[in-house]
Amino acid sequence: MIYEIEELCFSYDARFSLKIPHLEIPREGITGIVGPSGSGKSTLLMNLAFLQKGSWKSFKFCGKEVKPEDLKSLRRIVTYVSQHPILFSTTIKENLSYPLKLRRIPKDVVEKSVYKISRLLQIEHVLNSRPWEISGGEAQRVCIGRALIFKPKVVLLDEPTSNLDEENESIIEKILRDISTDTKLIIVSHNKHQIRRLCDTHFVMKNGMLLQNTQR
Ligand SMILES: Nc1ncnc2c1ncn2[C@@H]1O[C@H](COP(=O)(O)OP(=O)(O)OP(=O)(O)O)[C@@H](O)[C@H]1O
Ligand SMILES: [Mg+2]
Repeated sequence: MIYEIEELCFSYDARFSLKIPHLEIPREGITGIVGPSGSGKSTLLMNLAFLQKGSWKSFKFCGKEVKPEDLKSLRRIVTYVSQHPILFSTTIKENLSYPLKLRRIPKDVVEKSVYKISRLLQIEHVLNSRPWEISGGEAQRVCIGRALIFKPKVVLLDEPTSNLDEENESIIEKILRDISTDTKLIIVSHNKHQIRRLCDTHFVMKNGMLLQNTQR
């Protein structure tokens, strides 16, 4: 299992709380999370990405109990792609390079990685464009590329194809299937059909709780 969690609780305020008695997410395959708006899907993803810290009885990542001092280093290997992703107002190439520059990766390696990821995501033609000069589908792919470029262990994708047409949706779904052989993907979607098409296992969330775990 990549995640094994017992009694995870998180709340913003009295209005909403996440209560997960038990959660196991397998290392292999794509895992999906569906559920109505406001049920806590994004909140759960941010807890799994170590961006929000709830309380828990046990929280194992890759078989190892997570300690508060591990959170910073875990954020470097688990990445969250927001449902409202923001691109910097520089070129797409600079957007893609950013996570590697932050990690002080040599320039030639950055160049090669940017071209490799942009080929995989079919965004080579927009590398010199600025965010406002590209389509919504291309922007979603740039955000996925920016998350993948530093080869994280887990990518948590929050509504990766929302507001896209069928053609762009199927381009992104194909890319996700291709990358899932090397990277663990956990995907939140409103679209039950997409979750059935893409995922090997999926959970349903309602009112901050997980209702079921369905193996396909
Ligand atoms: N930063 C925040 N501060 C306070 N409350 C929040 C915050 N973020 C989310 N919430 C509340 O927590 C609840 C769960 O929100 P969350 O974003 O996890 O739902 P969701 O299932 O992802 O919804 P959607 O499908 O609309 O994206 C909602 O009631 C929301 O209003
Ligand atoms: Mg959400």
